[in-house]
Amino acid sequence: MDYTLPKQDINKEPFMRHPPRYNRKGILMRTDKVYKCEITNIVELTPTEKLFHLKILNDKERRIFEFRPGQFVMLEVPGFGEVPISISSSSNNREYIELCVRKSGRTTNVLHKAQKGAKLGIRGPFGTSFPMEKMAGSNILLVAGGLGLAPLRAPIYWASEHRDEFEDVHILYGTKDPGQMLFTYQYEEWEKVDHIKLLTIVEEASKGWRGRTGLITDLFKEIDIAPDNTYAIVCGPPVMFKFVCDHLDGLGIPMNRMFVSLERRMHCGMGKCCRCMVGSTFTCVDGPVFDYWSVLNLKEAI
Ligand SMILES: Cc1cc2nc3c(=O)[nH]c(=O)nc-3n(C[C@H](O)[C@H](O)[C@H](O)COP(=O)(O)OP(=O)(O)OC[C@H]3O[C@@H](n4cnc5c(N)ncnc54)[C@H](O)[C@@H]3O)c2cc1C
Ligand code: FES
Repeated sequence: MDYTLPKQDINKEPFMRHPPRYNRKGILMRTDKVYKCEITNIVELTPTEKLFHLKILNDKERRIFEFRPGQFVMLEVPGFGEVPISISSSSNNREYIELCVRKSGRTTNVLHKAQKGAKLGIRGPFGTSFPMEKMAGSNILLVAGGLGLAPLRAPIYWASEHRDEFEDVHILYGTKDPGQMLFTYQYEEWEKVDHIKLLTIVEEASKGWRGRTGLITDLFKEIDIAPDNTYAIVCGPPVMFKFVCDHLDGLGIPMNRMFVSLERRMHCGMGKCCRCMVGSTFTCVDGPVFDYWSVLNLKEAI
């Protein structure tokens, strides 16, 4: 018998079948796969926020990549780092994904200097999502503060694409000043084509601003909410969503029908490094989307 090992080509990577990965709820995850992407378009929304269109380069990978509203990706800027960013496009769009990124530190500053054609990597999609199917037949109230409109855009697309499944759809959006408003070019389409009622407000008016001035909770006076038939999705800084959710609670909307997206510093995005933990909860795997009841029961979540 011949016991010699087969000759190996050292230039070839060994064939190795990666064991499947499951999250803590037993759901199969494609977590460590990095999809190579190209920036196909950049829209400058404000001096600090840009919208990047990213196309996965491999056709087969692009076809299988799918996500749900509320999920995020780990975006790799080669040589600089990886950051968690919510997917801001329609889950129906299989050509490219859109990420709205604020220039806030090391990696995002470098990303803001990138041009069309630059190559990036994404891992994911990660995390929990907004239960859009469960909301069918009800009113949806989408409340966003500042950059919070970015993660809210995916459920807005969902609501427009399935408009006849929902009753009233309202968007309440507030920013510090008019210059910080995101996606202004879409407001008319949301209102006229998708029959979504949009109310905006700013804390400090600038010259030429003819809209409302005040706090986002002031907008609740202008809409009728049927508390027993409404789901709310609230995104923004923790201080804002606490105010808004407490207000909605006062109006009678059950806390398990209000959904928020929590932000924590993240490293792996897949429940391994413990960077994002709140108590024994992983924000990356058990969140980022939580109902408000669960958030209140998470110690130090807000
Ligand atoms: C689930 C999730 C979704 C997110 N979605 C978006 C999005 O759609 N668009 C977007 O612009 N940003 C989003 N963020 C925040 C984004 O990940 C951070 O702004 C980014 O990681 C900063 O990286 P940096 O290297 O540029 O900054 P750094 O140099 O690492 O930090 C700069 C500043 O940002 C703060 N920071 C860093 N990471 C976070 C974080 N995860 N949450 C809050 N503050 C942070 C730091 O404390 C520091 O003050 C999201 C974060 C999470 C967890
Ligand atoms: S980011 Fe590593 S465990 Fe959540």
